[in-house]
Amino acid sequence: MAGNITFTMIKPTAVKANHTGSILHMINEAGFEIRGMKLIKLCKEQAEEFYAVHKGKPFFEKLVNFMCSGPIVAAILEKENAVEDYRTLIGSTNPETAAEGTIRKLYATNMTENAVHGSDSDENANIEADFFFSKTERF
Ligand code: CMP
Repeated sequence: MAGNITFTMIKPTAVKANHTGSILHMINEAGFEIRGMKLIKLCKEQAEEFYAVHKGKPFFEKLVNFMCSGPIVAAILEKENAVEDYRTLIGSTNPETAAEGTIRKLYATNMTENAVHGSDSDENANIEADFFFSKTERF
């Protein structure tokens, strides 16, 4: 299936709470195909680099510390209109305002520990996928 890609991370709290299987099930049910996937624990430098666009914001340090607090699942997802459709599936950043039935509404704890990350543009999806996956880890 030809389509666009998006990049996602299942964040530490959701992995620790054993929500990985349910979240991946929702991803597949929504028509996404998994093109790469790994369980990995970020170090502080990697989390700072990944979220560099947020450096200087009040939540940056808390976000970085959280993202290296335990393993995450990183994945490349493919589907037509992947970026926009995945953002619809996960719901808004703040789980309190996320739509019913979305991944964040179901599995997020709060704004920082919001269950999953999703790319915000095609350009960033490619940058983020390249950050985690080599050519031989993508299918
Ligand atoms: P994510 O989609 O991973 O992209 C950036 C992350 O920063 C976001 O999810 C949230 O976890 C976090 N974030 C964004 N805005 C805020 C905020 N106002 N307060 C706390 N965390 C935030």
